[in-house]
Amino acid sequence: MADLEQIMRTTFACRSFTEEPLPDDELTAILEIARFAPSGGNRQGWHVIVVRNPDTKAELIELSVPAIELYVAQRAAGENPWNTVEPSSVDPATVSVPPAATAWYRELAKAPVLLVVALDLRVVASADRHLDRIGVISGASVYPFAQNILLAARDRGWAGALTTFVAAAEPAVQSLLRLPSYVAVAALVPLGRPEKVLTKLTRKPVAEFAHLETWDGPALGAAPTNA
Ligand SMILES: Cc1cc2nc3c(=O)[nH]c(=O)nc-3n(C[C@H](O)[C@H](O)[C@H](O)COP(=O)(O)O)c2cc1C
Repeated sequence: MADLEQIMRTTFACRSFTEEPLPDDELTAILEIARFAPSGGNRQGWHVIVVRNPDTKAELIELSVPAIELYVAQRAAGENPWNTVEPSSVDPATVSVPPAATAWYRELAKAPVLLVVALDLRVVASADRHLDRIGVISGASVYPFAQNILLAARDRGWAGALTTFVAAAEPAVQSLLRLPSYVAVAALVPLGRPEKVLTKLTRKPVAEFAHLETWDGPALGAAPTNA
């Protein structure tokens, strides 16, 4: 087993895979570790659909494309794509994006396995449901699990990426995979043997996102702690 810190520092988003299959026993071993993720009330509402059928994989990718096209168009307009705070100047009905702009996403269909990570909303405590903003708490009962999949995969020499565009087409995905209506689509995770292993990830330094006491307090690590 590799060192935890090294695994956490190098679990990159893998988008190109060799043709090596990812067998069920390896996948089981990955999920066996990932299942120790936390969830609200330990309700463990996650479900995983393991997709290897090429037609189903292609369909899942195609269903995601309109959401990506909007993402690309909003980015090109200098916006933070899909954000719910600042209004967008992009009309989704008129978005026109060259196929090359979404080719990278279509590559994901070549992964030996696509995992659809789903969440049974009947067991999720959404503590922010009454707030006048987009919900974030519900996701906390599934994304630690999804990240654990990536960490466990990395530890065993596999790799993947957490993607969410497919959720924009949730009703179609529910129908394709026969998910009940109360089961939300949380992520599409391509998994396989990475074509290239990346080990230098770009992340903000701690002092840029952690502050002492208040939002505008001194950056953590930038001021004497006994001041
Ligand atoms: C909520 C979420 C959605 C994401 N959606 C996608 C996606 O649709 N396609 C993709 O290739 N990567 C997706 N990613 C992966 C991010 O692009 C990736 O984590 C980030 O760029 C850092 O990449 P790195 O770990 O290789 O440095 C997503 C990640 C998160 C957390």
